[in-house]
Amino acid sequence: MRRLARSARTFLPAQLSMAQLRESAAGCTGCDLYQCATQTVFGEGAGRASMMFVGEQPGDQEDRAGRPFVGPAGKTLDKALAEAGIARRDLYVTNAVKHFKWEPQGKRRKHKKPSATEIAACRPWLEAEIAVVKPRVIICLGATAAQAAFGKAVRLNELRGRPWSTSIAPIVFVTVHPSAVLRHPDPVEREREYRGFVEDLRSIRLHLQLKAA
Ligand code: URA
Ligand code: SF4
Repeated sequence: MRRLARSARTFLPAQLSMAQLRESAAGCTGCDLYQCATQTVFGEGAGRASMMFVGEQPGDQEDRAGRPFVGPAGKTLDKALAEAGIARRDLYVTNAVKHFKWEPQGKRRKHKKPSATEIAACRPWLEAEIAVVKPRVIICLGATAAQAAFGKAVRLNELRGRPWSTSIAPIVFVTVHPSAVLRHPDPVEREREYRGFVEDLRSIRLHLQLKAA
């Protein structure tokens, strides 16, 4: 018997609608990550959002809540969006990988980066979300999301600041991940990174406004 590479593709519903996608993704076993996570954390937001933000994977709090970006990274994202003048109602927020990958560290569940295989296995969900929401732009938060969008490992700093056309969508922007901003131990550095993040978001908003004009 022919053996297909494991991926989320086998779990895609015949009918692409947000409700169907969410339901099917809840039962996805397209890679091993479902085994240690509490639940699938699917994307959420406006049905016809103009901007789709893509993070890495759910964190500890997202895994428990079943919703993306509700923990510390989400708070930083919300604050930066507000400062950049981007309204929540224009957004859809999701992750490149839909299950929380972690390893035990004492009593904590320590975040572990998803592998290239896991990113590729989960990509059909992201493609389906894009097909349903039809956002005008995709904004990759960090290297994992960028890897999903570009289909290979890329360097964030070389891609920031301008739109790219990739196999996943015609307009893709790349910026830092809010968790990477928070991880800076030095407060001055952290503030500088945060300002850069807000600036990236503001320039994406301006790009959209110019395109709409
Ligand atoms: N980090 C992410 O990349 N996504 C989340 O949903 C939360 C934290
Ligand atoms: Fe399926 Fe993605 Fe979860 Fe893997 S991480 S089991 S591909 S939803």
